[in-house]
Amino acid sequence: MAIREVVIYPDEILRRENKTITVFDDKLKELSKDMFDTMYKNDGIGLAGPQIGVNEKIVVIDLPEEDGSQGNNQVVLINPEIKKLEGDLIESEEGCLSVPGYNDKVQRYERCTVEYQDLEGNKQIFDNVDGLLAICLQHEIDHLHGKVFVDKLSRLKRERVHKKYAKYVKDLKAQKEGQ
Ligand code: NI
Repeated sequence: MAIREVVIYPDEILRRENKTITVFDDKLKELSKDMFDTMYKNDGIGLAGPQIGVNEKIVVIDLPEEDGSQGNNQVVLINPEIKKLEGDLIESEEGCLSVPGYNDKVQRYERCTVEYQDLEGNKQIFDNVDGLLAICLQHEIDHLHGKVFVDKLSRLKRERVHKKYAKYVKDLKAQKEGQ
């Protein structure tokens, strides 16, 4: 088990191109385990590769049970692609481990269809799913395209968040160097 450092917005690592995964080996399984560990440590429900500095097309998701517990709904998505977005645009209150402590409302589609590969390289599909899973899939797959949920906010809000987190990252770096 290894907890990785989470890349904080507006780090440009989150904007880089993410590579398609072609090798389905034990190293990939280890990576997915590290991603779950890192996600749980930070109380998240989804995490994408670039968020731990791995610019590859991998996402992990684990939606909590009604009592808030996690571990029963683990999904690893390799090379996920949104095939269809359906239904109305709905308002979704989101946060992101790369923007710690900030939540805001953004618009998402009600339902989506996503094709992906599992850890063995087999093709899988989430067919026209809705609810939190649909939102989470859209949020995480955005990360694989270099997008963060704050990109969807109004310009004014975006600028404010950008400024706040640029300072946060700078202070964090200064703190580490001072130790
Ligand atoms: Ni996120």
